Amino acid sequence: MARILAVTNAAIAEAAAALGAGDLVAFPTETVYGLGANALNADAVARIFAAKGRPATNPLIVHIAQSADASALADTSAPAFARLAAAFWPGPLTLVLPKQPIVPDIVTAGGPTVALRVPRHPVALALLQAAGVPLAAPSANRSEQLSPTRAQHVVEGLEEAVDIVLDGGPAEVGLESTVLDLTEQPPRLLRPGHITCSDLEAVLGTPLAAGPSAAGPARSPGQSRRHYAPRTPLHVVENVWEIAALTPGCAVLAHTPPPVPPPSHVRAAAVLSAGSRAYAAALYESLHRLDSLHPSIILAEAVPEDAAWLAVRDRLRRASTR
Ligand code: TXA
Ligand code: MG
Repeated sequence: MARILAVTNAAIAEAAAALGAGDLVAFPTETVYGLGANALNADAVARIFAAKGRPATNPLIVHIAQSADASALADTSAPAFARLAAAFWPGPLTLVLPKQPIVPDIVTAGGPTVALRVPRHPVALALLQAAGVPLAAPSANRSEQLSPTRAQHVVEGLEEAVDIVLDGGPAEVGLESTVLDLTEQPPRLLRPGHITCSDLEAVLGTPLAAGPSAAGPARSPGQSRRHYAPRTPLHVVENVWEIAALTPGCAVLAHTPPPVPPPSHVRAAAVLSAGSRAYAAALYESLHRLDSLHPSIILAEAVPEDAAWLAVRDRLRRASTR
């Protein structure tokens, strides 16, 4: 069984030593918990794929302690790189760049590019400093299941497949990082997140590439349609409380308040903020909770169509794909 460690200097040192020995350590980031291994140790990285049941075709994000560490792993000569790193690192932005030979092929799924990010969570940064190596870290969940926003979620999902879980409390952003491909000009969004297209465009001074890549779906191998899903079937609906009243044993994920009295059929409900960022921060936590109550179905209220909700809409759509 995984050991959950409260964050102390001794716990960071123990976790760093475990990483040095090729073990897996789950750690908090500001987005979700990551399942980390020494990115330069191909055998350790192979344990990540095994623990998650992740297809070898899906490359990993490599976490570094500071922007200056990027050039050892990737070609950072694109002018956009320096500007974006200065504006958003440490933070929830992942940049895809041409890889250097030192990065093992298993990390990049055999591809010529590597995804890099400097997380902004103090525990992640302390662990990176103490380990002294870049850390390959996908979200610390079984492949295709909900991402963890608490240490307890990691243990419930991965059980004995992870050695140590550093408990840094609930993740603040709650959705995985924005992924941006800098190997094309203009850069292309591969995964929407907390940092929005307009945030990126304001720094770049130019629009991002529109629509899917000419290189096809393989350009973003992790973006299979089904992802981030609870075990319970999830449907996105407009009039969620009306439909809930007709659906025995359902759970509701809403951002508008329930009618008074609440529908008697509803087994459990999570009423989140009507603001996209606070909603995002609570989304996975709420889905973990509703899922654990084994409802007949999770009815998720449709969210607004505007740009601020892009990342949330993306995750709800993937969670509802069977
Ligand atoms: O917020 C996050 O990004 C979290 C925390 C732990 O940092 N990590 C995370 O990792 O979400 P993961 O493995 O669950 O998602 C990584 C995404 C996948 O969609 C993957 O396909 C994509 O990044 N990716 C990784 N390397 C890539 C590359 N070289 N080219 C294109 N996409 C890449
Ligand atoms: Mg993931």
